Amino acid sequence: MTSVLRPLAVTCLAICSVVAGFSADRPGINSDEKAVRPYTLPDPLVRNDGTRVRDVAEWRTQRRPELLELFAREVYGRTPAGRPEKMHWAVTSVDRAALGGKAVRKEITIWFTEKKDGPKIHLLVYQPAGAAGAHAPWPAFLGLNYYGNPCVNPDPGITPSTAWMRPTAEFKIVNNRATEGTRGAHASRWNVETVIARGYATATMYYGDLCEDRNEGLNRDVAALFGTGAVEDRKPDAWGAIGIWAWGLSRALDYLASDPEIDGKRVAVHGHSRLGKAALWAGAQDERFAYVISNNSGCGGAALSMRNFGEDVATINRSFPFWFSRNFRAYNGREAALPVDQHELIALIAPRPVHVASAEDDSWADPRGEFLAAKHAEPVYALYGKKGLGVAEQPPVNQPVLGDAIAYHLRTGKHDINAYDWARYLDFADKVLRK
Ligand code: GCU
Repeated sequence: MTSVLRPLAVTCLAICSVVAGFSADRPGINSDEKAVRPYTLPDPLVRNDGTRVRDVAEWRTQRRPELLELFAREVYGRTPAGRPEKMHWAVTSVDRAALGGKAVRKEITIWFTEKKDGPKIHLLVYQPAGAAGAHAPWPAFLGLNYYGNPCVNPDPGITPSTAWMRPTAEFKIVNNRATEGTRGAHASRWNVETVIARGYATATMYYGDLCEDRNEGLNRDVAALFGTGAVEDRKPDAWGAIGIWAWGLSRALDYLASDPEIDGKRVAVHGHSRLGKAALWAGAQDERFAYVISNNSGCGGAALSMRNFGEDVATINRSFPFWFSRNFRAYNGREAALPVDQHELIALIAPRPVHVASAEDDSWADPRGEFLAAKHAEPVYALYGKKGLGVAEQPPVNQPVLGDAIAYHLRTGKHDINAYDWARYLDFADKVLRK
């Protein structure tokens, strides 16, 4: 343990977390701040051979590639390089008077092979109506959605999804398919009108078109295209669903960067929960993402794995054996043996801006562990002359910290992404993405 990392890790015991008391009530899962065992985080600036990184050049050419390799091999599995040779797209609809005239709505299909019946995604883009003017071209937010594009807004013009979905009565998924009742069901998670009003475009696609969120997903679509193999038959370092979702975000960015009305150099990638894990991994690997947002991403996302609070590695691997590489299972109950922890995933985003957000009642995702990961990424931002968060301790609820390239907030309420979160992301975007 280095002197830089020691104080925060140890003070975890002394500072009673604002989340203690909310439950991750499951046998064997710790939700008591006082029961957090001491842990030693790997130092992002110490190379595998034990020598210290001294400057940006050494970080970029030596340590950053080492960390990307460790995350690929031991955690998420390997991502194929670049886009498939035959990938192509077509704009399938444009409405320049959407959302009561406030927005332009575009739909784009991206096919990953030459075959129209092969793996594909359907991208939905809203941008503010009219010319971008001083903002031209529009900066944008990009994120995956859970229930097909119509879930993000009640707009009747969004083409329905016919894809398989995880069942939920709440969002009117019937027989594993979205229905008209699903339209707008997640509008509160997308805040499309607000984002547009603030002068940003917002783009999304259904995550299940890339990889269905179940074991069978690894036999189909993008996984099959790359010969991934079934959940248990994959190579130990083959990717899982999170890797595939992250890869898909980069393919959507390929399109966005080609759209003359969108500024491909000012695209923020965001995601909630499991999709926040994917957004972080996408942002870590693909340096074209200009701003990376993790909303309540928890274990395997922004939360430190070595801190035993909330969901742990064994639990996530057992519940979702297809999300990570098979190698990751070697750390079930052995987090201390991990060669990396999630502060280093955030550090891979440096010097680009990153925003980590937690919710008070979301102890399963370990809000304090999410804060600490952002905090412990600071030494890498410091190499670039950036202060990072600039605060020593986790801020109280509803007191966001929009620091120098790192932002963090803990809001009241449950595991979710809502208007409060979006207002913070937009505020930070105004600081870091505006020309
Ligand atoms: C489960 C899972 C989490 C995940 C969450 C979600 O709770 O254990 O790791 O973040 O689902 O995606 O909503």
